[in-house]
Amino acid sequence: MIMESGGDCLPGVPALLTESAFSQTYREYLEKSGILDGRYRLLKLGDMVALPVHEEKFNVTVQENLLEIVAPGSSCKKMFITSPVLSKRGRVHPPAQKLRMELCSLLESYGVTWTPDLERDLPHSWQRHGDLIVFSEDCFGSPIWKQLGNELWSSVAGSLGVKRLAKQGRVLNDGVRSPNVTLLLGDNGWVEHVDNGIRYTFDLTKSMFSAGNIVEKQRVATLRCSKEIVVDLYAGIGYFTLPFLVHAGAEFVHACEWNPYAVTALHRNLEINKVSHKCQIHEGDNRQLLLRDVADRVNLGLIPTSEAGYIVACRVLKKNTGGILHIHHNVDCYPSKHEGDIAAQDPERSRRMIWRKWAESTKTKICMLLQEVHNIPWQTSIVRIEKVKSYAPHVDHVVLDLDCRPLP
Ligand SMILES: C[S@@+](CC[C@H](N)C(=O)[O-])C[C@H]1O[C@@H](n2cnc3c(N)ncnc32)[C@H](O)[C@@H]1O
Repeated sequence: MIMESGGDCLPGVPALLTESAFSQTYREYLEKSGILDGRYRLLKLGDMVALPVHEEKFNVTVQENLLEIVAPGSSCKKMFITSPVLSKRGRVHPPAQKLRMELCSLLESYGVTWTPDLERDLPHSWQRHGDLIVFSEDCFGSPIWKQLGNELWSSVAGSLGVKRLAKQGRVLNDGVRSPNVTLLLGDNGWVEHVDNGIRYTFDLTKSMFSAGNIVEKQRVATLRCSKEIVVDLYAGIGYFTLPFLVHAGAEFVHACEWNPYAVTALHRNLEINKVSHKCQIHEGDNRQLLLRDVADRVNLGLIPTSEAGYIVACRVLKKNTGGILHIHHNVDCYPSKHEGDIAAQDPERSRRMIWRKWAESTKTKICMLLQEVHNIPWQTSIVRIEKVKSYAPHVDHVVLDLDCRPLP
């Protein structure tokens, strides 16, 4: 018996039985309406034909249509094909289906019956990093999986064609944005990504991969920073430090990072991209940074806010010529009463107004800090406010480019 799950997990495949003379007309109609289950072959039973269907899409209206409009004179009976034969399409299993089949037969070999709860407990999507797959936290919660231990993870990895597995928990709010990823199979969590021609390697059980910052990373890559000294106050594994060096042509980057795991990855990334000689890593809390008066540009890539780094950025900016600050922030875009009216008519405009309000107040704050730090008057002006990503409903992660110059 050929079963999708490789065992007795299904009672059979639901099908519609009709006369051979009408089977082609039935097939066309069922295919067009998405009711035909193309994973199985049609079954000839004497002068009748059984057409496999998706049961949940078949109802009385469909049956009436078939009998009265599509093929008058036909008969239409629901049945189950107990020995379904997979079609060409059905033999190619998407990974989620392969995984389900594998686990179904694994449990069966231990005499455990497949249940709807187990079905719901399966992962339906995951992140693949080369030979390592990371599942989200909402799967494999059932106690039965724990009992199977490593045998389970080996089968899962085998069916998905990888060597290592991990499971995602919530990102910890511990200041270093620890990823809370647990390794299920394999002995290390090091993975590699290539993005815009730059290689990034990191241990994903220790450092976070910020896929959402891709647009901003690309924007940084297009900046022209030759002859510029950049300070990256929140370097992580180098998501901005590297584009500054590799693409924007920065002369030198001072990269600050206090998470030792991220520092290890940053060292490796500078090496594999051959730019170590143009970067100094300052390990530790950037608020203790001793650098002063060196930077043409400062990157403050921390959310929800990089406010704690404003004073540090002001100190490192060149006293005589100033420079540009890239300030990241999560802006709460829930409109006030007045803004609510605009938001109802033009939500995009309303959001931009709220971003600008934050940007204006930041501009003033930075201007005052610069005067305080350097003891001379400064001028700050907004060059650009860009959305990096939607962080949550009504919360936008934005970046402000602020031009800061000492007044003559
Ligand atoms: C969200 S990550 C940003 C990494 C990178 N900019 C990106 O977008 O992928 C922020 C990094 O700043 C580091 N960090 C936070 N506060 C810090 C501080 N006071 N001094 C040094 N590093 C800090 C964290 O450890 C983390 O790696």
